[in-house]
Amino acid sequence: MADAVNNPLPIVVLISGRGSNLQSIIDSVAAGDLPVEIRAVISNRPGVQGLQRASQAGIFTRVVDHSHYPDRAAFDKALQVAIDAYQPELVVLAGFMRILTPAFVHHYQGRMINIHPSLLPEFPGLNTHQRVLEAGRAVTGATIHFVTEEMDGGPAILQARVPVLAGDDAESLAARVLEQEHRMYPVVIRWYAEGRVRLDTERQVRFDDVPIKRPRQLDSEADAPC
Ligand code: GAR
Repeated sequence: MADAVNNPLPIVVLISGRGSNLQSIIDSVAAGDLPVEIRAVISNRPGVQGLQRASQAGIFTRVVDHSHYPDRAAFDKALQVAIDAYQPELVVLAGFMRILTPAFVHHYQGRMINIHPSLLPEFPGLNTHQRVLEAGRAVTGATIHFVTEEMDGGPAILQARVPVLAGDDAESLAARVLEQEHRMYPVVIRWYAEGRVRLDTERQVRFDDVPIKRPRQLDSEADAPC
């Protein structure tokens, strides 16, 4: 368990692009709200904005370019070596847009979390907001979950609900969901750092040692960020 001042939780953040969720984590750490040390930011794409954000914050960056590897297994092996060089206790996927091999996922079981812009298990995968609109949903949201072999499918930790408004297009909806996403990672990473959230051997999320049947909700009183 991390001690906020003396023993911050070491994390590595994986990105593929813009890095706005990464920025929310960086900002929370800088504000003294998050007892973590971001040891590195690793991208599978060179030249992306998230790498610039990390550099500006003085964080180590690495690129492990998936296009340089013959197959997923070889890429994931190289990625694992790159991550483990920083000895993180938690791996945070923040807009990391790669399907991961079972061997990689197994290596980080219970130590890797992902954010996805829907109320999982609904709408995993790409083009989420467009599909939500086409399905005529009145409510959407975002989910943070432990990563398992199933893409966007692991046990959920925290959700935020966002109304779909008349006149929304995929862009306006994505922007409103993203506002909530930016509040969510600092909350969940703090829970993890404080030892409050864990994946147990039955692959159940435990919160304060109690298995939770449903993900926690961002705006329930107890979960509101201070
Ligand atoms: C975020 O909306 C995140 O939820 C989504 O990509 C975006 C990354 O934005 N992730 C997925 O769809 C994963 N399946 P960011 O790079 O600005 O954080």
